[in-house]
Amino acid sequence: MSNNYDFNVKRKRPEEIYSKVSDYFKGETLEQYASSKSIVKMQEKITIRALELLKLKKNDALILDAGSGPGFTAMYLNEIGYKAVAIDLISSFLNYYDIKELNPIISDMCFPPFKPNTFDAIISISALQWIYRDINNEQMKNMLINLSKSFFQILKPDSRIIIQFYPKSKKILENIGKIIAEYTAFKGHFIIDNPNSQKKRKIYLLLDKET
Ligand SMILES: C[S@@+](CC[C@H](N)C(=O)[O-])C[C@H]1O[C@@H](n2cnc3c(N)ncnc32)[C@H](O)[C@@H]1O
Repeated sequence: MSNNYDFNVKRKRPEEIYSKVSDYFKGETLEQYASSKSIVKMQEKITIRALELLKLKKNDALILDAGSGPGFTAMYLNEIGYKAVAIDLISSFLNYYDIKELNPIISDMCFPPFKPNTFDAIISISALQWIYRDINNEQMKNMLINLSKSFFQILKPDSRIIIQFYPKSKKILENIGKIIAEYTAFKGHFIIDNPNSQKKRKIYLLLDKET
């Protein structure tokens, strides 16, 4: 990322208004999100881009969809031949899955209940901003440390993670990069698509666990 590039989103995002994600995604909001055709389309588009960046070597890779919500990414991965495991905090989202195919797991992705070296890849779409969004909040920092250490552990060597998310500012994004570099052995960088359009901008964090 160029040092000259900067952004600071003025509009308040839901994660600034609701401290807990389960206070936002409930009732009508949850139902609307889970059944919106336009959100399915958008999240699929992000997933396709995430796969492009991951450059998977195996056609039948086992992929964790972390913060899966109603499972748009996991379902898409499954449809195109990958083996997807989905986890999310909110149990009502997981009712949207075809349970026989995906066996979604209710779990905090900062404490993923898997053995070391389990996954060929991890994809997380539009979730990280709920975990880390305030550089002065020690609890959020600790959750991010836990998430990155756990992801490092459950990922197979020579594998990658892609995280798409909506940081509020360049400062938050940089802090995330610094924390992950300090506490794990991941090699990583950010990719910003459509950097000059607030509406179309998509931010990805690509993390490599080298052998
Ligand atoms: C905007 S939704 C995105 C859902 C899905 N990835 C998609 O692309 O449609 C954010 C999701 O992140 C989940 N989430 C946020 N923090 C989480 C955590 N600590 N552990 C697991 N899931 C979390 C929320 O429950 C919610 O389902």
